[in-house]
Amino acid sequence: MPLKRNVIQVGDALSLLDEVEDESIDLIVCDGPYGVTENEWDQISNIQEYNLDLIKRFSSKLKDGGALYLFGKPNCIDFIDYRPYLNLKSKIVWYQPSRLAQGRINYTNNYDVICYFVKGYRPRCYNLDNIRVAQLVELEHRLRCERVPSVKNGKYGKTKFNAKGKNPGDVWGDIKQLTYKSKELACRETLNTIQKPEKLIERLVLASSNLGDLVLDPFAGVGTCPVVCQRHQRNFIAFELNAEFVNLANLRLEATERQLEMEI
Ligand SMILES: C[S@@+](CC[C@H](N)C(=O)[O-])C[C@H]1O[C@@H](n2cnc3c(N)ncnc32)[C@H](O)[C@@H]1O
Repeated sequence: MPLKRNVIQVGDALSLLDEVEDESIDLIVCDGPYGVTENEWDQISNIQEYNLDLIKRFSSKLKDGGALYLFGKPNCIDFIDYRPYLNLKSKIVWYQPSRLAQGRINYTNNYDVICYFVKGYRPRCYNLDNIRVAQLVELEHRLRCERVPSVKNGKYGKTKFNAKGKNPGDVWGDIKQLTYKSKELACRETLNTIQKPEKLIERLVLASSNLGDLVLDPFAGVGTCPVVCQRHQRNFIAFELNAEFVNLANLRLEATERQLEMEI
């Protein structure tokens, strides 16, 4: 029986993944274990080997040109050879300046990484116009930039100011971690180690999928990626171990549905 779409299945992603049809997925958003928190599900002895196993398995589930975004700490793919399976295009730094500076003998880690992989060389889609961000530079500086030559494929061209905004680049400091006051927070327990901001997941989904595409979220938590998919008319297959989180996710999905109905 094919896996149900657009519902979150309660269960272990590692076994449910076998039921996903090969080469059927356009985009995978993998916000799973980081191997650093005290959560029971995060007790992973070797996070790099764990991620390599996921990358191998995801590779067979992705369509050609499909994308994987893998969340983790800065060392999450160190010393593993993922190259036979997927191509690493970017390591996005999600910068969170508001974190308490807890370091005593080292620099406090202020960012997560989101490793962006593609199956094959060219992505099926990279919808830059969906994710442009404000230029945030004054006109005079902009004009000066336009006269600065930039290098692309060995050719010199002009750095053009685009009125629609610029590429967000690979350091994202414009999306803040949720706080207790965030309206979208599903419950207090999901702050910090669980729930991601919708804006963050939205950027990934809008860039790397199109209307009607199929998105896989193997570690759905309280459903941020499913909610974003529902809002932007993407289909999803999602898994989550914790049934209480799935209940919270379902409430969020119902609220999103009501919101969409009101907008019609
Ligand atoms: C970082 S959270 C994901 C949060 C999600 N992106 C959100 O915004 O709500 C990771 C989730 O993976 C779940 N998880 C961990 N191991 C799992 C497994 N083997 N199968 C399914 N879910 C798992 C945890 O229960 C947790 O909710």
